[in-house]
Amino acid sequence: MALSRRNLISLSAAALAAGALAACSDERGGDTADPAPADGTTGAAPADGETTPTGGEAGGLIGIAMPTKSLERWNRDGAHLEGLLKEMGYETSLQYADNKQDQQNNQIQNMINDGAKVVVIASIDGTAMGPILQTAADAGVKVFAYDRLINGTENVDYYATFDNYKVGQLQGQYILDHMDDYKNDDGSINLEPFAGSPDDNNVRYFFGGAWDLLGPEVEKGTFTVPSGKAPADSDGWASIGIQGWASSGAQSEMENRINSFYGDGKKVNIVLSPNDSLALGIQQALEGAGYTPGEDWPLLTGQDADLANVQAMVQGKQTMDVWKDTRMLGEQVAKMVDQLVKGEEVETNDTETYDNGVKVVPSFLIDPVVVTMDNIEEQLVESGFYTAEDIGL
Ligand code: BGC
Repeated sequence: MALSRRNLISLSAAALAAGALAACSDERGGDTADPAPADGTTGAAPADGETTPTGGEAGGLIGIAMPTKSLERWNRDGAHLEGLLKEMGYETSLQYADNKQDQQNNQIQNMINDGAKVVVIASIDGTAMGPILQTAADAGVKVFAYDRLINGTENVDYYATFDNYKVGQLQGQYILDHMDDYKNDDGSINLEPFAGSPDDNNVRYFFGGAWDLLGPEVEKGTFTVPSGKAPADSDGWASIGIQGWASSGAQSEMENRINSFYGDGKKVNIVLSPNDSLALGIQQALEGAGYTPGEDWPLLTGQDADLANVQAMVQGKQTMDVWKDTRMLGEQVAKMVDQLVKGEEVETNDTETYDNGVKVVPSFLIDPVVVTMDNIEEQLVESGFYTAEDIGL
């Protein structure tokens, strides 16, 4: 492996610098339909002076801070976790932040003011939360990083996620296992890699997992990257990151690459897309350039099994998806929150991997799963995630 998992963890200066760009993202809309009251609260009972979340009974307010409504998965994640916590007897404040860290920090401040015992946060820019989490710690509020690690602060108590490095490995391994089906007549294979939003701490893991497998093959000449956008190593992901995970950003990047580097009938054979929102934009660009499913459509990866992407898979426009059953993540987090509130031991299964630059955050990692047309029914329909009708089967 060119770059070990541990190497990926250290906070790079590039990532910190990229974090400063977060406010410029173009995927910044669509969260205005948030049904929560304008003051950002649920109207939950105010703090009763009891600030420590440990050693008590179930109950009290749990804050859930999600990044954006504009991506399907976060809507599902938020609603599911909220439902589970309510069933367990908690009150909840579920907030979406329009992909703006400042807005999320204000929402967390409101949760603290409202007496939350715990806040569960899927951050936007996990390097820009130090002050608000200090406020949380001072108020005795415990913090869970949900899906995305929060960096550069000691005030993050637990992390629960899918194994992000493995997501990338599954995408990279799928490409290696199927690349022969996508070869040009002369044996060459044109690969175009993409990476996610530079302010999201998960991106280095997704990209690193895939590039640890694909990078050496680019070096050996198994793949050519006509656009030249092939990072020299797994740490080079920020140079090809799509800000805000925007489908529109991925679409215009793919259009530029096709227009500039694919003249004279040259074809894109494989696209490494780290997630579904990017894959959707890439599909638009391929369609616009005249690629046809079942004929010259490239192998295209994804992550999340969002409905539109699963439908696209059925239509032959997306080849594989890494499915993260967000119901499992919600169940795990609800259980851990409950354990913490009750003063019980909180279940973790990894105390080495996720160093946020200040501490190694005790984590629970869940395994992601590859979905293709071969197992789509078994994985997504039989598990009750979608109906066959939903996905066009
Ligand atoms: C999540 C992915 C998601 C992406 C864009 C990442 O942090 O892990 O599941 O596709 O953010 O929202």
